[in-house]
Amino acid sequence: MATQLKTNAMVDSDCTKEQYWKLIKSVCASCFGEAHYPHSRPYTYVEIGVASARTFNTVAPLFDIAHAVDIGDVTGSIDPTLLGRTTVHVCTSDDYVASISGIGVEHSAPALDCVFIDGLHTYDQVMADFRGVFPYVREGGLVFLHDTYPADARHLDPCLCGDVFRATETLRRDYGHLAEVLSTPADFGVTIVRKMGIDAPYVHWMKRGPGE
Ligand SMILES: C[S@@+](CC[C@H](N)C(=O)[O-])C[C@H]1O[C@@H](n2cnc3c(N)ncnc32)[C@H](O)[C@@H]1O
Repeated sequence: MATQLKTNAMVDSDCTKEQYWKLIKSVCASCFGEAHYPHSRPYTYVEIGVASARTFNTVAPLFDIAHAVDIGDVTGSIDPTLLGRTTVHVCTSDDYVASISGIGVEHSAPALDCVFIDGLHTYDQVMADFRGVFPYVREGGLVFLHDTYPADARHLDPCLCGDVFRATETLRRDYGHLAEVLSTPADFGVTIVRKMGIDAPYVHWMKRGPGE
């Protein structure tokens, strides 16, 4: 009982924003190392739902090209040193997804290396965002979904985590054969999806077995 109480009490404060960003940056650094991710640069980052750009300004510096997608104009919040390589899309995520359909997988290689989904906090919208961008994520690339681990019922408020947590189960069910999926409680939940494919050597090794 004591452990449970302690856990509940710690949920809000157990992982600071800095630790959460460190987690995201560490996952990116490990997955996008040259040995595991043999794509030629430029590496491209997309953030859906940017707000005051706190995450964007922390994660986007790891990439060569960045896209900031928000229904509001977030230009003024973006670190000026990033503006030269950032495209700001003032639109809904649905409109952004529609705009990238021109780089369809049938016509050219998927172009996105990392997507952070943190726009409208509903299950339906998050799944629409995921389904929209996933075909354009390179093999071995990452998709992060925020707010997938509400601390308690209070956090199911649409202004907080909403019902985004439901997406994790759907991702495992519908994309489990195409991606690795891991959820952590960090900062009210970050779910990490790593697209599998023949170009990702680690996955390649597991499929074929050692020595083959
Ligand atoms: C929780 S905030 C994003 C926080 C930010 N990712 C961060 O970590 O600092 C959500 C943002 O999503 C934007 N948003 C809401 N609905 C959206 C939609 N349908 N398409 C794109 N952005 C949306 C809001 O304007 C808001 O700025």
